[in-house]
Amino acid sequence: MGKTPDQRLVDEIRDLKAARRAVLLAHNYQLPEIQDLADFCGDSLGLSVEASKTDADVIVFCGVRFMAETAKILSPHKMVLLPDRWAGCPMADMITGEQLRGLKRKHPEALVVCYVNSTADVKAESDYCCTSANAVALVQSLPKGRPIIFVPDQHLGQFVEKQTGRDLILWPGYCPTHVLMSDEDIRQARKQHPDAVVIAHPECTEPVKDLADALLSTGQMIRFVKDSPAQRFIVATEVGMIHPLQKVRPDAEFIPAGTRGVCPNMKKTTLEKVLASLANLQFQVEVPEEIRRKAVRSLQRMVEVLPEK
Ligand code: 13P
Ligand code: SF4
Repeated sequence: MGKTPDQRLVDEIRDLKAARRAVLLAHNYQLPEIQDLADFCGDSLGLSVEASKTDADVIVFCGVRFMAETAKILSPHKMVLLPDRWAGCPMADMITGEQLRGLKRKHPEALVVCYVNSTADVKAESDYCCTSANAVALVQSLPKGRPIIFVPDQHLGQFVEKQTGRDLILWPGYCPTHVLMSDEDIRQARKQHPDAVVIAHPECTEPVKDLADALLSTGQMIRFVKDSPAQRFIVATEVGMIHPLQKVRPDAEFIPAGTRGVCPNMKKTTLEKVLASLANLQFQVEVPEEIRRKAVRSLQRMVEVLPEK
């Protein structure tokens, strides 16, 4: 039997990847065929750690721009490629460096924590960076009595406030995909599957999180379902997540919370674009050195903080 077009593409990508001494990193929301091809698939924290320690010459980042930028900041001497130049994260663009400088002027005594879903400019203005996997641990480690600015995700910020009991100065950013999941979606899914365990990403709104059994980063979701005796899970995050969950628990059933949990930017990376990226070394991600030098401090702190289990 001949090869399918996808198999031919996969073979070409593998050959070119070896020739370029490239590593393929993919986020858990990527299309299944991209996840299956990647050398490493994971959450934002795992991918950043991987990008900081790889000995490959080229990093092909199958995700969105802030992830590739983070890889470039942590590994400045590597070539970092984003297969689709328009794959961005709308939440990351909800605050600019200038806006953060304005907020800092209003709260000059505050420490600044930014979510990794932010631009390099914002990271450069921040004292600490975090992902959803270690935001609580990071904020807990900060000196008591110091005000804390947390940008840009108000929903992750609200989750951190609840977990740590600390008040944060929040920015009204949000993920346009996660806010589309509603508490009604969870109630409906629960009615149909009363035995299911509900897992949700902290980027969801508070009413959704209040109904969840566990609030987890995408990497934590994989570890959670692997260790859980449950047979059914309602999943309140981007729908791409079902693929890695199903891989670790082929015996379990995963039900997406509603039908709107799709991040269009995460779906922009295709096998064809990965091949073109390797063939033409496109699209190279650059961060001006002055910004990089400032941003790397907050990112190094991020990769050093252990995630919550
Ligand atoms: P994770 O860090 O949990 O993988 O989340 C990244 C993200 O973009 C969520 O929308
Ligand atoms: Fe950004 Fe939301 Fe897409 Fe994650 S799911 S990359 S936060 S828009």
